[in-house]
Amino acid sequence: MSSIVNKGVPNAPFYTPVQGPPAGTALDQATAPTLFKPLKIRGVELQNRFVVSPMCMYSADDGHVTDWHFAHLSQFILRGTALTIVEATAVTPNGRISPEDLGIWKDSQISGLKRIVDFAHSQGQKVGIQLAHAGRKASTLASWLTLEDGSRTVAAESGGWPDNVWAPSAIKFHEGYAEPKAMTTEDIKVLVQAFEDAARRAVAAGFDVIEIHGAHGYLITEFLSPASNKRTDQYGGSFENRTRLLFEVIKAVRGAIPESMALFLRISATEWMEWAGEPSWTMEQSFQLAKLLPAAGIDLLDVSSAGNNPAQRLVIHPYTQINFAGRIRDELKKNGINLLIGAVGLITNSGVARRIVQEGEAPQADLVFIGRQLLREPEFVLRAAQELGVEVKWPNQYHRAAWRVMAGYDTAM
Ligand SMILES: Cc1cc2nc3c(=O)[nH]c(=O)nc-3n(C[C@H](O)[C@H](O)[C@H](O)COP(=O)(O)O)c2cc1C
Repeated sequence: MSSIVNKGVPNAPFYTPVQGPPAGTALDQATAPTLFKPLKIRGVELQNRFVVSPMCMYSADDGHVTDWHFAHLSQFILRGTALTIVEATAVTPNGRISPEDLGIWKDSQISGLKRIVDFAHSQGQKVGIQLAHAGRKASTLASWLTLEDGSRTVAAESGGWPDNVWAPSAIKFHEGYAEPKAMTTEDIKVLVQAFEDAARRAVAAGFDVIEIHGAHGYLITEFLSPASNKRTDQYGGSFENRTRLLFEVIKAVRGAIPESMALFLRISATEWMEWAGEPSWTMEQSFQLAKLLPAAGIDLLDVSSAGNNPAQRLVIHPYTQINFAGRIRDELKKNGINLLIGAVGLITNSGVARRIVQEGEAPQADLVFIGRQLLREPEFVLRAAQELGVEVKWPNQYHRAAWRVMAGYDTAM
């Protein structure tokens, strides 16, 4: 009898063959471009630089994971993304964007999340969760729906909570959105506690990484921006006051998770309102904020933009957001501050992904977060490896289908 056996992953809650090394690992680390080199963040070892950007699926059942989430995220986990970040997951019920958003405000929500984590770990991959509160953009419809009158607000009889929508100030986002209530300091305490409790549940589910959602005009952005935060107490006015809630959330979350766990923050680097000549959140404030993050316990800043004002004027070209990431990274380096940077937005091909992180070629980030390209092409990591001429591990079960690398492929695209 042969001594070779198809070994199962030890301690996994089901049988699955050991992948070792995980899919997406470069077989020759020495010659691999940075995109396929490992990176260790605290206790979290990533075999390459690809991250699944968090993406809401509007498919949860009272905040609980459904089979949709499992099937959706498994596509990427199987195919070599080093880190998969679960969509914006609400820390309180009124922090959901839509009634069908994921939640982590009660213990019954842990087991569905754990199923995703267990699967990722069984494949040797890492998994994170984005903790969020939607603020004044809560109680809205799934992104593909609009009511006949053009409104996006979900009424109470349809499972919404338009009378319990939080914001720093009672300023609604736009016509068709709920009228928010200005949070009291008591509400702020409840919120910070909810982030802490959510972080504990994320630890119980086994996540490797937490990302705090401070972008896209949701509650934390609303506090950061002088356009949406008109408070006159210690949470409004000066930069220090507008960032106070964020730092309280960071402290609460960092205090609830082990040293070995990585903590990311996503921000909108600008809200694209400079044109209006009114106070708004700008790149300068992002520089100022970024410098304070490592001491607060943030390991990586994920640089997005926009979402806090319907009058925003985006100047979009494929490098817009990547350049924001690069500028923040350069500013930090100039000041001798170590903070990892994530680039996101319109990264759709291997050559661009390679260049963004390539050491020795003025890298703009340390990790690339990929959203829609992975929805179009879940095997993007494996395809990028082939195009860049990097031999990578495929999932064992698919090894007979592995692409051969294309010698001489032009990466300068
Ligand atoms: C379907 C969908 C859902 C999204 N949900 C979230 C989310 O939950 N949290 C978040 O920070 N960004 C969310 N985003 C933004 C993406 O994470 C990403 O920043 C954006 O799509 C730009 O990257 P891309 O050009 O690679 O798609 C979502 C984007 C899409 C397409």
